[in-house]
Amino acid sequence: MIDVSKDTQMMEAIDRIRASVSGLNLKYFIETYGCQMNEHDSEKLAGMLVACGYTKAEGKNEADLILFNTCCVREHAELRTFGNVGFVKELKQQNPRLILGVCGCMMQQKEVADKLYKRFPFVDMIFGTHELKNFPFMLEKALNNQRVFNITEMDGEVVEGLPAERTPGFSTFINIMYGCNNFCTYCIVPYVRGRERSRNPEDILNEVREVIGQGYSEITLLGQNVNSYNYDGITFPMLLSMVNLVPGLVRLRFMTSHPKDLSDELIDAMASLDKVCKHIHLPVQSGSNEILRRMNRRYTVEHYMELVNKLRSRIADVEITTDIIVGFPGETEEDFQATCELVRNVGYSNAYTFAYSPRQGTIAAAMDEQIPQDEKRRRLNALNAVLAETIPAGNEKYIGYEGDILVEGVDHRDEPLLFGKLSNFKMVYVKGDEKLIGSLVHVRVDGFRFNSLSGRIVE
Ligand code: 5AD
Ligand code: SF4
Repeated sequence: MIDVSKDTQMMEAIDRIRASVSGLNLKYFIETYGCQMNEHDSEKLAGMLVACGYTKAEGKNEADLILFNTCCVREHAELRTFGNVGFVKELKQQNPRLILGVCGCMMQQKEVADKLYKRFPFVDMIFGTHELKNFPFMLEKALNNQRVFNITEMDGEVVEGLPAERTPGFSTFINIMYGCNNFCTYCIVPYVRGRERSRNPEDILNEVREVIGQGYSEITLLGQNVNSYNYDGITFPMLLSMVNLVPGLVRLRFMTSHPKDLSDELIDAMASLDKVCKHIHLPVQSGSNEILRRMNRRYTVEHYMELVNKLRSRIADVEITTDIIVGFPGETEEDFQATCELVRNVGYSNAYTFAYSPRQGTIAAAMDEQIPQDEKRRRLNALNAVLAETIPAGNEKYIGYEGDILVEGVDHRDEPLLFGKLSNFKMVYVKGDEKLIGSLVHVRVDGFRFNSLSGRIVE
């Protein structure tokens, strides 16, 4: 473990930058792609920039430093990044002191980073996912007009003590582990985020207390596969029970769970711990055993359904969401229909669906029987049509239901309505006073739209 807050060289670098930019009123803008893990990395980059004396810009136009924190999980994300970085060239011409950086998962792929470095000579900083802790040193170089290109393979570290500028609100994220060991054959994450490593529970608990002190009441614990959290024998259900005890915490969520590692202990913890929410994001990826095998998911449809049934029987009102990939290499029409069938059987409250996107360096990208783009698109549309039926169908049971929502904000689309989620992640819209934002209110449901509910506040 590296504790950056005790790294005097880094503190000195931050002080030097602060002194050199003082009075210049420099602003930063960070554009983040991809998952919550990346969002949270951006909050840490922002935390370091604030420590260096920068303030947040409202848009790219007024920024003196623009960072693109990239994602490479699917091709679409990659193409967007290249396009958006290209656009910024013009801003560089208008503001010569503008520093432009590109970082994150996409830059951890050396060939892609090389390509970007060559194609966009106006990019000042390129760095990978293991370089966050060196950001002040890299910034100092860039401020001295040196081009930065830092991509290292080292991935065994847990870095503590980085300041974070969290998105304001009532809900925030805390990492409990980094990396992934699962090597699902379609997935680039283990290559760009490194091997699995868990944080010390003491550090996690300190961070939980810190964010509660800052006014957050809902925390989502993050990891690629939280079920394999393990720190000196402390497992994920044990960690949940420790966090559950922290005074001031109202709601505790977590993601993502891998079905192969979802234990009975975790189901028991979800059922018994009062702050742990009754929602689980449990990516199934496919409803065909043959495709699951080729994906190296290491569970069967039967095992998955067993988990679903256990969750439903032990946890009242639990809702399940998922991720699904269609058009994986070799997926037959029969395999695809099995996925649609599984979706009908489970009754998800929401699902993120993707067309398989070959990622260079992964096992599946080299498999025979790649599915043509048009066919992947057709299957994606067909699957989304199934979900468009099954998701609203799951709403009917909520008519007359009473529960608490944590009010997140006001929606102004038609008449102003407060919105917030039930413990099980179902969104509910109700009439009410804006002063209720941030508090738990008790509601009764009397209607629904596609994947949200409507109702009113009851005493
Ligand atoms: N193609 C399509 N979808 C993918 N995902 C991960 N890798 C790929 C890929 N190569 C999806 C999975 C995962 C989610 C975060 O992204 O469904 O659960
Ligand atoms: Fe990727 Fe599989 Fe790891 Fe999730 S569990 S990050 S899909 S390799």
